[in-house]
Amino acid sequence: MGTDRHFLESLLGRMTLEEKVGQLSLYSADVKLAGAETVNPALTFKAPQSRFEDIRAGRVTGVFNGYGEAYIRALQTIAVEDSRLGIPLIFGADVIHGFRTAFPVPLAEAASFEPELAERVAETAAAEAAAEGLHWTFAPGADLCRDARWGRVVESYGEDTLVASRFAAARVRGFQGDDLRDPRRLMATVKHFAAYGAAEAGLDYNTAEISRTTLVDHYLPPYRAAVEAGAGAVMTAFNDVDGVPASANRELLTGLLREQWGFKGFTVSDYNSDFETIVHGLADSPREAARLCFLAGLDMCMQSGLYADQLAGLVADGAVEEAAVDRSVLRVLAAKQALGLFENPYRGLGAAFDPGPARALAREAARRCPVLLKNRDGVLPLKAGARVALIGPFAREHQNLNGAWAIFAANGQSVNLEDGFRAALGDQALIVEPGCAISEALPGGLEAAAAAAAGADVVLLALGEGQHMSGESRSRTDIGLPAAQIELAQAMRRTGKPIVTLLRTGRPLAIPELAALSDALLVTWFLGCETGAAVADLVLGRAAPSGRLPMSFPRHVGQAPIYYARKATGRPPRDPPGPFTARYIDAEPGPLYPFGFGLGYGRIDYGPTRVSPADLAGSGAVTVSCELTERAGADIEEVVQLYVHDVAASRVRPVRELKAFRKVAVAAGARVVVEFELRREDLGFADGTGGWTVEPGAFEVWIAPNAEAGVPARFVLRSEAGA
Ligand code: NOJ
Repeated sequence: MGTDRHFLESLLGRMTLEEKVGQLSLYSADVKLAGAETVNPALTFKAPQSRFEDIRAGRVTGVFNGYGEAYIRALQTIAVEDSRLGIPLIFGADVIHGFRTAFPVPLAEAASFEPELAERVAETAAAEAAAEGLHWTFAPGADLCRDARWGRVVESYGEDTLVASRFAAARVRGFQGDDLRDPRRLMATVKHFAAYGAAEAGLDYNTAEISRTTLVDHYLPPYRAAVEAGAGAVMTAFNDVDGVPASANRELLTGLLREQWGFKGFTVSDYNSDFETIVHGLADSPREAARLCFLAGLDMCMQSGLYADQLAGLVADGAVEEAAVDRSVLRVLAAKQALGLFENPYRGLGAAFDPGPARALAREAARRCPVLLKNRDGVLPLKAGARVALIGPFAREHQNLNGAWAIFAANGQSVNLEDGFRAALGDQALIVEPGCAISEALPGGLEAAAAAAAGADVVLLALGEGQHMSGESRSRTDIGLPAAQIELAQAMRRTGKPIVTLLRTGRPLAIPELAALSDALLVTWFLGCETGAAVADLVLGRAAPSGRLPMSFPRHVGQAPIYYARKATGRPPRDPPGPFTARYIDAEPGPLYPFGFGLGYGRIDYGPTRVSPADLAGSGAVTVSCELTERAGADIEEVVQLYVHDVAASRVRPVRELKAFRKVAVAAGARVVVEFELRREDLGFADGTGGWTVEPGAFEVWIAPNAEAGVPARFVLRSEAGA
């Protein structure tokens, strides 16, 4: 981010301490968002008049989740024309998966395994939001998560470090572009730093009980990738890490972020998390909370007003040096300068934005995220002319299309399943019945659904989670389907018609029974405004599914957390399970569907994995390759995955780790050779004493269609000196 230091320092020189603290104090908008009142607790919402006074007095750095040209223009005018120094406000928002145009939720986007798609989506979302005067998004989330009970897996890129890192970085590039002064761009925030996704027992806000090496090897890299991609801000997490709440964690905010990673932007607390260090029991007073957070490296408070109330007093007492306050203020002013706000405080406001291409991109994205888990006898794509019964609680409703964080999108503009299929099939070939509600039976629902199915050739069963069953503070202990939906699936099975289940969800679900009842199973996540059109495209064969699971689907919630990159144990699971091995006495140990799994309409046979040369010496690389052959006579896009396992190391290593992936188009009947390069630096890990090690020795390597498939090849990593 380019800055003119001289301008900023001379501005700083004219600021009172109260004005400086104002630059470190962010507040939510006073306007209520339609449908968004649940995104944060109602905390110290101020009356508009007093907010105006605060802005006029220079006590506010910016406002978030407010929108609308009139609102933003009114507030900015007060800041630049009526406040003493005319410092512009920064307007932030949770533009998580789109602004007005709702795109697939992040977990769905991860399933595309196409970071470049995420980059394009972020760019479009930024342009749409910036045209309404926003400057700053609270995205990307880069929280690795392995426990599907945690509701915020929907906002994540799933369980894999490499996938999460690639997507987090791609989204930063998409939001920010090369120059934040471009009024179609938003500054990005990587969140929630750190290890928010490791909430114990999948309970949101819970402690992240996590080893140092797991933190370094798995949880930190996605944040780091986003920082290295240039994210302008970092948001601290609600949780503690090793006993210190993230917002007051000096080791994280200063030691790691600034000193090791060289982060130059500013840090902001998550909503009130600075104040909540008192509730954690770290601080015994607001003054102490402010002191600990500030000295740890937290620049800005979101919503709490903690610094507004405490920081000047801490400076007066000598507990905090004013020079340190100045450093934080300069970081914030530098961000405003990088955004071009000093020259153009109304940046972006009222700019033309054409929603047409955004809708087209939403449809493209929504086609590329669903994951086909089962397709018995090639029931999908449907045969031309098939009469379709679209059954289920999600068949015709509009409230659960967009996903947990599309708080600015209008539900009515989103295409539901009924409209998508009606547009594709016409009225004659489609009959629609809900059969049940999301969580309850409907009187006569099963009978009506059975009657609808009787007149059809195939049943499309639209089941899953409601939009508010995942997201913040929406952890679940039961990640199955509500009983009413299972009863509907059983009733549909009894009709004898082929059943294609369209599974809407914000997390992996434990659905062995549903999978058994279904002939085809398509995980559709929350796909945003083009849901119905995109699902119809896939089901009818106008496009083919190419998504893969970014998280393992368990058989039972009791397996959580279940993830493929588990450390090798001394008594691993066996097939079939035996005594004194890692097993459950009441369920198989492995997932129902593993990480990386998904089908297309074509089918790929993988040849053996080959490595050349057999030794990786010096600073060279090995080439790992595999021949793919399409066998079903249909085009396919295959997500080819490269995994490694360090056979013997000074610390126990995961049974597999993804090191590369690529979506490859293979035409019907074609053969394609896929190659990846592996280098020494791809093979390192945390050594447990704060360092990083790459150890010579044997490695197994797979090119495989998912985290459980394939036969490994081997190569040997020689010591760097070549010995
Ligand atoms: C709390 C959430 O944890 C965070 O992700 C979000 O950006 C803020 N609220 C602001 O709405």
